[in-house]
Amino acid sequence: MNEVFSLRKPIVGISFKNYINSIRDACYVVEQFDKLTGKENEIDQVIFPSLGTIYPVSAILKDSNIAVGAQNISPAKEGAYTGEISISSIIDMGGRYVEIGHAERRIIFKETQKMINEKVKLTLELGLIPFLCIGEEVKFENLAQIRGDLEKQILESLVDVSPSLISNIVLAYEPVWAIGQQESADHSYVHHSHDLIRDILNELYGETVAKKVRIIYGGSVSKNNVSKLVNSSNVDGVFVGRFGHLPLNYKRIVDIVKEQKENSI
Ligand code: PGA
Repeated sequence: MNEVFSLRKPIVGISFKNYINSIRDACYVVEQFDKLTGKENEIDQVIFPSLGTIYPVSAILKDSNIAVGAQNISPAKEGAYTGEISISSIIDMGGRYVEIGHAERRIIFKETQKMINEKVKLTLELGLIPFLCIGEEVKFENLAQIRGDLEKQILESLVDVSPSLISNIVLAYEPVWAIGQQESADHSYVHHSHDLIRDILNELYGETVAKKVRIIYGGSVSKNNVSKLVNSSNVDGVFVGRFGHLPLNYKRIVDIVKEQKENSI
């Protein structure tokens, strides 16, 4: 096994956003996912169901190799936070991952960097794995601009996070302009951005930490573009949306990531 593979197990996440919202539909889809890829153990997988369906979905995946994550949590564990979902409930329902700072939360729900930072700290403190989303809002033409923007987001999201915990984070690089499109960002652009992110982590937190953080790409990932996207040592997997909601498409994406990463050994 090569060094990268042993340090960073490839990972595929998929978010149902608010596309699959009835318990019946979510359970049906997740049962298919489980049948198709639930025994896979060479790469990690995590499903982020619509929050209202997380409990029955989690019950289906109880003995599966597919983990469950929450698309969002309250920045505080408990208290007067009407309408929020506490991380305690997520843990109680078997969730192991928490998606934090997705562009739709930042833009539509006006989530601030301070809230994102609080959520990251809470998630790590309670032993869950943050899927921290970062990405520039507009497509920049030069690498220095991308770097500046990503570095700022990383720094602000990780204020007061102990370097020993940073390696547990999965960083999801999701350029906002590539989310919800027909095509992902171009693979070479993605590879450059991932190299930059690894470099930023290196500079800020040192090589030992930087080498362990998994950096995955999200934004219009499909079975057609995933192979090129993950064909770089700094791309440790993908965060899938719409184009993985059909179970067979999801399985194809998982298979391709696995094949690509095995071939790079
Ligand atoms: P999309 O969603 O693949 O449907 O663009 C990805 C995401 O927002 O993470």
